[in-house]
Amino acid sequence: MKFIGQKIDSVFYEFLKPIEELWQPSDFLPDSANENFLSDVKLLQEAARELPYDYIAVLVGDTITEEALPTYESWLMTVEGVNQQDPQQGWTKWIRAWTAEENRHGDLLNKYLYLSGRVNMRAMEVSTQYLIADGFDIETGTDPYRNFVYTSFQELATNISHRRTATLAKQYGNTLLSKMCGVIAADEMRHAKAYKAFVERIFEVDSSEMMLAFEDMMRKKIVMPAHFLRETGVKIGETFSHYSDAAQRIGVYTTYDYIEIMDSLLKEWKIDKVSGLNEAGEKARDYLMALPTRLKRVAERTKAPNLDYNFSWISAY
Ligand SMILES: [Fe+2]
Ligand SMILES: [Fe+2]
Repeated sequence: MKFIGQKIDSVFYEFLKPIEELWQPSDFLPDSANENFLSDVKLLQEAARELPYDYIAVLVGDTITEEALPTYESWLMTVEGVNQQDPQQGWTKWIRAWTAEENRHGDLLNKYLYLSGRVNMRAMEVSTQYLIADGFDIETGTDPYRNFVYTSFQELATNISHRRTATLAKQYGNTLLSKMCGVIAADEMRHAKAYKAFVERIFEVDSSEMMLAFEDMMRKKIVMPAHFLRETGVKIGETFSHYSDAAQRIGVYTTYDYIEIMDSLLKEWKIDKVSGLNEAGEKARDYLMALPTRLKRVAERTKAPNLDYNFSWISAY
């Protein structure tokens, strides 16, 4: 961590943006200080009426996932080599600045959903509070190698899902929502590049251990950050599977995307060409290289979930 941390400043400027230049949620939302506010909200609500049930459910789940940001920041602060007591340390600065960027995602989506008239906000807020209170277990421990595999994967997964909700919004004729999801997706891609760059550097200096960490994370399977998602009266994690079913049904995030991400990481980190591996490292590489094909075979045998579910988050109207 010290070694990569030395060059973190350049990563900083490459993958994060100055606050003053970044978009803010209010750039996209009706301005409540403006006299046209009510008519703008009316237009927003009319457009939101066209959004299908599963789509709203996915958007709510995405929002809650983003809103559980305190969990992610506090988790990353405990990673070995990150020292919060040293505010000038590169890693501390990185995590804080990353958090600051991410914080806009939940803000923007939450405000949109509030204005949309489609969501039972209280039910959604209860789920958010539960998720933050329940935390998560992504099985990385405090190991930076495992954590950076996880964050690389996760940023790519959120990039895909926000990108898809953007595309779908456009198809439903909702340009505003499409733009919103699009700018969030772009942030996620920048973040993914940063975390992938950290892993790439570790591969340069500690290839066997990095390979083993990658293998370990993939054997355990990457769990989504909202895997404990629940609603009032629903068992922990159960709402998550309904949310992820809805995402599969509308094609926002599917098993094939998981495999696609895995495949892209193998290429990005040139896993087939990593040199200097010890025996265990070589074995880990073999496992990883064979994994996409294996997962595809499994995916072909699993059917897309068809079960309908009534989320407490969505207002009946
Ligand atoms: Fe995000
Ligand atoms: Fe992210």
